[in-house]
Amino acid sequence: MAKKIYLYGNWKMNNTYSETEKFFVDFAPAYEPFRNDKNLEVGIFAPFTSLWPLSQGAKKSGIVFGAQNVYYEAKGAFTGEISIPMLKEYGVTHIIIGHSERRHIFGEPDEMIAKKVKAVLDAGMTPVLCYGETLEERESGNTFTVMERQLKSAISGLTPDEVKKIIYAYEPVWAIGTGKTATPDQAEEVCKWSRELIGQPEAVILYGGSVKGSNAKELLSMKDIDGALVGGASLKPAPFLEIYTAYRE
Ligand code: 13P
Repeated sequence: MAKKIYLYGNWKMNNTYSETEKFFVDFAPAYEPFRNDKNLEVGIFAPFTSLWPLSQGAKKSGIVFGAQNVYYEAKGAFTGEISIPMLKEYGVTHIIIGHSERRHIFGEPDEMIAKKVKAVLDAGMTPVLCYGETLEERESGNTFTVMERQLKSAISGLTPDEVKKIIYAYEPVWAIGTGKTATPDQAEEVCKWSRELIGQPEAVILYGGSVKGSNAKELLSMKDIDGALVGGASLKPAPFLEIYTAYRE
Protein backbone atom coordinates (compact mmCIF):
# COMPACT_ATOMS: atom_id res chain seq x y z
CA MET A 1 0.00 0.00 0.00
CA ALA A 2 1.25 3.47 -0.87
CA LYS A 3 2.27 5.55 2.13
CA LYS A 4 0.49 8.76 3.03
CA ILE A 5 2.37 11.89 1.97
CA TYR A 6 2.15 15.18 3.88
CA LEU A 7 2.69 18.13 1.56
CA TYR A 8 2.92 21.22 3.73
CA GLY A 9 3.67 24.70 2.43
CA ASN A 10 5.30 27.30 4.67
CA TRP A 11 4.74 30.63 2.98
CA LYS A 12 6.98 32.46 5.47
CA MET A 13 6.57 36.27 5.08
CA ASN A 14 5.00 35.98 1.62
CA ASN A 15 1.49 36.27 0.13
CA THR A 16 -0.60 39.21 1.31
CA TYR A 17 -4.36 39.00 1.91
CA SER A 18 -5.19 39.69 -1.74
CA GLU A 19 -2.39 37.46 -3.04
CA THR A 20 -3.79 34.65 -0.89
CA GLU A 21 -7.22 35.13 -2.46
CA LYS A 22 -5.58 34.98 -5.90
CA PHE A 23 -3.64 31.84 -4.92
CA PHE A 24 -6.90 30.01 -4.28
CA VAL A 25 -8.44 31.06 -7.60
CA ASP A 26 -5.78 28.85 -9.22
CA PHE A 27 -5.35 26.34 -6.42
CA ALA A 28 -8.99 25.23 -6.17
CA PRO A 29 -9.26 23.76 -9.70
CA ALA A 30 -5.64 22.50 -9.68
CA TYR A 31 -6.23 20.62 -6.42
CA GLU A 32 -9.57 19.11 -7.46
CA PRO A 33 -8.06 15.90 -8.96
CA PHE A 34 -6.24 15.23 -5.65
CA ARG A 35 -9.12 16.01 -3.35
CA ASN A 36 -10.15 12.44 -2.71
CA ASP A 37 -6.64 11.02 -2.59
CA LYS A 38 -6.44 9.35 0.82
CA ASN A 39 -2.65 9.16 0.52
CA LEU A 40 -2.18 12.91 0.41
CA GLU A 41 -2.57 15.58 3.06
CA VAL A 42 -1.95 19.14 1.88
CA GLY A 43 -1.45 21.97 4.35
CA ILE A 44 -0.62 25.66 4.03
CA PHE A 45 0.88 27.91 6.71
CA ALA A 46 0.40 31.62 6.06
CA PRO A 47 1.27 34.90 7.79
CA PHE A 48 -1.31 35.94 10.41
CA THR A 49 -2.74 38.67 8.20
CA SER A 50 -3.50 36.14 5.44
CA LEU A 51 -5.17 33.59 7.71
CA TRP A 52 -8.68 34.72 6.94
CA PRO A 53 -8.54 34.28 3.13
CA LEU A 54 -6.43 31.15 3.72
CA SER A 55 -9.12 29.69 5.97
CA GLN A 56 -11.80 30.36 3.36
CA GLY A 57 -9.82 28.83 0.50
CA ALA A 58 -8.58 25.90 2.57
CA LYS A 59 -12.05 24.99 3.81
CA LYS A 60 -13.43 24.99 0.26
CA SER A 61 -10.66 22.72 -0.97
CA GLY A 62 -10.61 20.59 2.17
CA ILE A 63 -6.95 21.15 3.04
CA VAL A 64 -5.26 21.73 6.39
CA PHE A 65 -4.22 25.27 7.25
CA GLY A 66 -2.24 26.88 9.96
CA ALA A 67 -0.01 29.61 11.34
CA GLN A 68 3.76 29.89 11.41
CA ASN A 69 4.19 30.88 15.05
CA VAL A 70 2.26 31.56 18.25
CA TYR A 71 2.90 32.73 21.79
CA TYR A 72 2.28 30.29 24.63
CA GLU A 73 0.35 32.61 26.98
CA ALA A 74 -3.39 32.90 26.33
CA LYS A 75 -3.59 36.70 26.75
CA GLY A 76 -2.03 39.67 28.46
CA ALA A 77 0.69 42.26 28.13
CA PHE A 78 2.72 40.71 25.29
CA THR A 79 2.84 43.45 22.67
CA GLY A 80 3.05 42.15 19.13
CA GLU A 81 2.25 38.54 19.98
CA ILE A 82 -0.64 36.32 18.87
CA SER A 83 -2.19 33.70 21.16
CA ILE A 84 -3.61 30.24 20.63
CA PRO A 85 -7.25 31.27 21.35
CA MET A 86 -6.89 34.01 18.71
CA LEU A 87 -5.83 31.43 16.13
CA LYS A 88 -8.49 28.95 17.20
CA GLU A 89 -11.23 31.43 16.28
CA TYR A 90 -9.93 31.31 12.72
CA GLY A 91 -10.25 27.54 12.69
CA VAL A 92 -6.49 27.02 12.77
CA THR A 93 -5.57 23.45 13.74
CA HIS A 94 -1.83 23.30 13.01
CA ILE A 95 0.99 25.67 14.04
CA ILE A 96 4.64 25.63 12.99
CA ILE A 97 6.89 25.90 16.04
CA GLY A 98 10.64 26.41 16.21
CA HIS A 99 11.30 27.08 12.54
CA SER A 100 15.02 27.74 12.06
CA GLU A 101 14.24 31.32 11.04
CA ARG A 102 12.56 31.83 14.43
CA ARG A 103 15.47 30.15 16.18
CA HIS A 104 18.27 31.94 14.33
CA ILE A 105 16.90 35.31 13.17
CA PHE A 106 14.66 35.99 16.19
CA GLY A 107 16.68 34.10 18.79
CA GLU A 108 13.96 31.76 20.07
CA PRO A 109 15.56 29.45 22.62
CA ASP A 110 14.77 25.75 23.13
CA GLU A 111 12.88 26.48 26.38
CA MET A 112 10.48 28.87 24.65
CA ILE A 113 9.93 26.40 21.82
CA ALA A 114 9.16 23.65 24.37
CA LYS A 115 6.56 25.89 26.06
CA LYS A 116 4.94 26.66 22.72
CA VAL A 117 4.77 22.96 21.77
CA LYS A 118 3.13 22.14 25.09
CA ALA A 119 0.63 25.00 24.84
CA VAL A 120 -0.39 24.00 21.32
CA LEU A 121 -0.89 20.38 22.41
CA ASP A 122 -2.87 21.48 25.48
CA ALA A 123 -5.20 23.38 23.14
CA GLY A 124 -5.83 20.19 21.17
CA MET A 125 -3.95 21.51 18.15
CA THR A 126 -1.02 20.05 16.20
CA PRO A 127 2.46 21.54 16.51
CA VAL A 128 4.70 21.16 13.46
CA LEU A 129 8.02 21.12 15.26
CA CYS A 130 11.03 22.13 13.16
CA TYR A 131 14.59 21.20 14.03
CA GLY A 132 17.89 20.92 12.21
CA GLU A 133 21.54 21.80 12.16
CA THR A 134 23.45 24.71 10.62
CA LEU A 135 26.23 24.14 8.09
CA GLU A 136 28.82 24.92 10.75
CA GLU A 137 27.28 22.38 13.12
CA ARG A 138 27.23 19.73 10.39
CA GLU A 139 30.81 20.41 9.31
CA SER A 140 32.08 20.26 12.87
CA GLY A 141 30.41 16.87 13.35
CA ASN A 142 27.76 18.17 15.75
CA THR A 143 24.64 17.46 13.70
CA PHE A 144 23.24 14.83 16.01
CA THR A 145 24.25 16.54 19.26
CA VAL A 146 22.43 19.71 18.22
CA MET A 147 19.31 17.90 17.05
CA GLU A 148 19.21 15.72 20.14
CA ARG A 149 19.20 18.88 22.26
CA GLN A 150 16.48 20.49 20.13
CA LEU A 151 14.24 17.43 20.07
CA LYS A 152 14.72 16.32 23.66
CA SER A 153 14.05 19.75 25.08
CA ALA A 154 10.82 19.99 23.07
CA ILE A 155 9.42 16.58 24.01
CA SER A 156 10.73 15.92 27.51
CA GLY A 157 7.86 16.13 29.95
CA LEU A 158 5.27 15.17 27.34
CA THR A 159 3.28 11.93 27.47
CA PRO A 160 3.98 9.32 24.76
CA ASP A 161 0.59 10.18 23.29
CA GLU A 162 1.51 13.86 23.07
CA VAL A 163 4.89 13.00 21.52
CA LYS A 164 3.03 11.03 18.85
CA LYS A 165 0.68 13.93 18.05
CA ILE A 166 3.51 16.27 17.07
CA ILE A 167 4.43 16.49 13.39
CA TYR A 168 8.21 16.71 13.11
CA ALA A 169 10.03 18.56 10.34
CA TYR A 170 13.74 18.03 9.84
CA GLU A 171 15.06 21.13 8.13
CA PRO A 172 18.83 21.40 7.79
CA VAL A 173 19.47 25.14 7.94
CA TRP A 174 22.03 24.96 5.11
CA ALA A 175 19.37 23.59 2.75
CA ILE A 176 16.71 26.22 3.43
CA GLY A 177 16.17 28.71 0.62
CA THR A 178 19.65 27.98 -0.69
CA GLY A 179 18.75 25.65 -3.56
CA LYS A 180 20.96 23.08 -1.83
CA THR A 181 19.05 19.97 -0.83
CA ALA A 182 20.15 17.28 1.58
CA THR A 183 20.74 14.12 -0.42
CA PRO A 184 18.00 11.53 0.04
CA ASP A 185 20.46 9.46 2.09
CA GLN A 186 21.39 12.41 4.34
CA ALA A 187 17.72 13.26 4.93
CA GLU A 188 16.77 9.64 5.51
CA GLU A 189 19.63 9.14 7.95
CA VAL A 190 18.37 11.99 10.14
CA CYS A 191 14.67 11.12 9.86
CA LYS A 192 15.36 7.48 10.79
CA TRP A 193 17.54 8.58 13.71
CA SER A 194 14.83 11.04 14.83
CA ARG A 195 12.17 8.34 14.79
CA GLU A 196 14.30 6.23 17.12
CA LEU A 197 15.05 9.18 19.42
CA ILE A 198 11.40 10.15 19.59
CA GLY A 199 10.56 6.54 20.40
CA GLN A 200 7.35 6.57 18.37
CA PRO A 201 7.57 4.42 15.23
CA GLU A 202 4.41 6.00 13.83
CA ALA A 203 5.46 9.63 14.29
CA VAL A 204 5.06 11.78 11.18
CA ILE A 205 8.44 13.16 10.10
CA LEU A 206 8.80 15.60 7.22
CA TYR A 207 11.88 16.84 5.40
CA GLY A 208 12.24 20.51 4.49
CA GLY A 209 14.90 22.38 2.54
CA SER A 210 14.63 23.31 -1.17
CA VAL A 211 12.10 20.59 -1.97
CA LYS A 212 10.71 20.94 -5.49
CA GLY A 213 9.32 18.84 -8.32
CA SER A 214 12.76 17.85 -9.57
CA ASN A 215 13.95 16.31 -6.29
CA ALA A 216 10.63 15.25 -4.74
CA LYS A 217 10.51 11.68 -5.94
CA GLU A 218 13.83 10.59 -4.53
CA LEU A 219 13.32 12.37 -1.20
CA LEU A 220 9.72 11.33 -0.60
CA SER A 221 10.45 7.73 -1.57
CA MET A 222 12.76 7.31 1.43
CA LYS A 223 11.31 5.03 4.09
CA ASP A 224 11.41 7.42 7.05
CA ILE A 225 10.36 10.59 5.21
CA ASP A 226 6.59 11.07 5.42
CA GLY A 227 6.37 14.30 3.48
CA ALA A 228 7.80 17.72 2.81
CA LEU A 229 7.69 21.15 4.42
CA VAL A 230 8.09 23.40 1.41
CA GLY A 231 9.04 27.08 1.34
CA GLY A 232 9.68 28.74 -2.02
CA ALA A 233 7.96 26.11 -4.16
CA SER A 234 4.71 26.42 -2.18
CA LEU A 235 4.01 30.04 -3.10
CA LYS A 236 2.25 29.16 -6.35
CA PRO A 237 -0.17 26.23 -6.79
CA ALA A 238 1.52 24.58 -9.80
CA PRO A 239 5.06 24.05 -8.44
CA PHE A 240 3.58 23.11 -5.07
CA LEU A 241 1.33 20.35 -6.38
CA GLU A 242 4.01 19.24 -8.82
CA ILE A 243 5.94 17.94 -5.80
CA TYR A 244 3.28 15.30 -5.25
CA THR A 245 2.75 14.44 -8.91
CA ALA A 246 6.51 14.03 -9.36
CA TYR A 247 6.57 11.64 -6.41
CA ARG A 248 3.67 9.61 -7.78
CA GLU A 249 5.05 9.32 -11.33
P1 13P B 1 12.66 26.29 1.03
O1 13P B 1 11.78 25.19 0.48
O2 13P B 1 12.39 27.62 0.40
O3 13P B 1 14.09 25.89 1.05
O4 13P B 1 12.22 26.48 2.57
C1 13P B 1 12.16 25.37 3.40
C2 13P B 1 11.54 25.75 4.68
O5 13P B 1 12.16 26.44 5.49
C3 13P B 1 10.17 25.33 4.95
O6 13P B 1 9.79 25.58 6.26
